[in-house]
Amino acid sequence: MIERTLCIIKPDAVAKNVSGNILAMIQNAGFKVLGMKMIRLTPAQAGAFYEVHKERPFYQDLINYMISGPIIPVALEKDNAVEDYRKLIGATNPQNADAGTVRKLYGESIEKNAVHGSDSGENGIIEIAFFFPKAELSANE
Ligand code: CMP
Repeated sequence: MIERTLCIIKPDAVAKNVSGNILAMIQNAGFKVLGMKMIRLTPAQAGAFYEVHKERPFYQDLINYMISGPIIPVALEKDNAVEDYRKLIGATNPQNADAGTVRKLYGESIEKNAVHGSDSGENGIIEIAFFFPKAELSANE
């Protein structure tokens, strides 16, 4: 089934200048890029994006980290996108991620873990809409 997932190249990976390497891994794995931009989130935007984690002890730290520098949201499409992308990036904690995954290669810690990925197709659509109005996505949308 064709699905969409939202990738965010997070501040640690942008600062390390490895965005191109990460995008190459994503594109070589067959994902189609529907939209991409480099932005800096406000605290309110970061808080809203991660609202599902509001009650978690790491919520405020996560917001502080996500606003610490520019990020690159990338809207992706592919057959079985959610599962395939999650395999490509590896476990949330880079220490537990398989060799060769994005987070193993580029993540620093469970918080500074290089990239975000949607956890379901439904959330992929919601999260892509958070960053991209329809008009900004590629034409065959
Ligand atoms: P992400 O996939 O973007 O979804 C939620 C983010 O919260 C996660 O990546 C990490 O950056 C962060 N996160 C998840 N669990 C923890 C944790 N135990 N401690 C600190 N940060 C976490």
